[in-house]
Amino acid sequence: MKKIRDKNNRTKLAYGKEHTARPVQKRVQSARPRPPEPAAEPAARPSAAERGEEARSTRPDIRYHSGARPDLQMPEILTVEPGSDYALLDSGDGEKLERYGPITIRRPENQAIWRPRLSASEWDAADAVFTGDTDEEGTGRWRFPNGDLGETWPMAQDGLPYLGRFTSYRHVGVFPEQAAHWRFVEEAVKRAGRPVRVLNLFGYTGLASLLAARAGAEVTHVDASKKAIQWARQNQELAGLEDKPIRWICEDAVRYAEREMRRDSRYDIILLDPPKFGRGPKGEVWQIFEDLPYLLSLMRGLLSENPISLILTAYSIRSSFYSLAALMEDHCRGLGGVIQSGELIIREAGDDPRLLSTSLFSRWVGS
Ligand SMILES: C[S@@+](CC[C@H](N)C(=O)[O-])C[C@H]1O[C@@H](n2cnc3c(N)ncnc32)[C@H](O)[C@@H]1O
Repeated sequence: MKKIRDKNNRTKLAYGKEHTARPVQKRVQSARPRPPEPAAEPAARPSAAERGEEARSTRPDIRYHSGARPDLQMPEILTVEPGSDYALLDSGDGEKLERYGPITIRRPENQAIWRPRLSASEWDAADAVFTGDTDEEGTGRWRFPNGDLGETWPMAQDGLPYLGRFTSYRHVGVFPEQAAHWRFVEEAVKRAGRPVRVLNLFGYTGLASLLAARAGAEVTHVDASKKAIQWARQNQELAGLEDKPIRWICEDAVRYAEREMRRDSRYDIILLDPPKFGRGPKGEVWQIFEDLPYLLSLMRGLLSENPISLILTAYSIRSSFYSLAALMEDHCRGLGGVIQSGELIIREAGDDPRLLSTSLFSRWVGS
């Protein structure tokens, strides 16, 4: 990798030999007061100011690679089936009823515009119900009709124990639909038959990192939230994986990627599951539509000589997997392999199950 100077005499990294595209917008630290410590949650909807009315300077130019476009496979629908760790029991009337291990949880689900199949009494039997009471925080926003459950409870994913937690934002510390990617990563690590380095950006409570480490990978996990990192470390302890090589890093994803580029670090598998809007620990603003192209260009630069996969998921955005696929195409030229794009969905349990779409994804897979 070379260092070059731009027209303002600033040093930048040149990591490709190919052409330069138009500059893209760069997010900067906001002049507004610092936000509270980022919660271990996907960020809430941004305010008007956060949606772009603040000053921005330009990011370094994005460098694209030439070469053949990888084969495209789409639509690919990756489905999470009901199992003993997790099942979507029912959905409808703007809610979903789920089972996490032994606990049943009832919470809002905007997409469920259809009617529920289970009876009102089955819904009412839920162990935890999200009320969303804005006067309360954390577990205060939940109701426990069958007796208090405390803030956390032990859960498992494919035999890996972790802590579920009732949070203010109706999330419980796991996005079950991601299991399709986790299994793919675990199998790829085991199949590789060589040391595999995994980078997990926007890693949240660490399930992908822990499952990859358990499969034998050396993992770097990055998240902007101190709380999420603490929770992920707790999960590591609970899973008895303290001896596994995992680096837990509390940093802005873009900043970290830029540093890794400067250090010439390389990864065989990269996972990124960015929110629509978020903030780094120093108030750095993340906006998916503005920042993702640049971040993906950095990801291309961080892929190893013999890369295995680059996995991108996006949720809560008005977009299509075709857009993610086109962006991946931009950054995966010359790598060979295939780009698979589509949706992550969850199949309900029971008869005549419906399919709940949760997120879009596009992943490049080496041949
Ligand atoms: C939905 S979560 C990712 C979920 C994860 N893939 C999983 O399945 O467990 C999004 C995460 O992005 C983090 N985040 C938000 N803005 C960030 C930023 N600028 N840099 C790094 N992480 C950020 C949040 O703290 C949150 O943990």
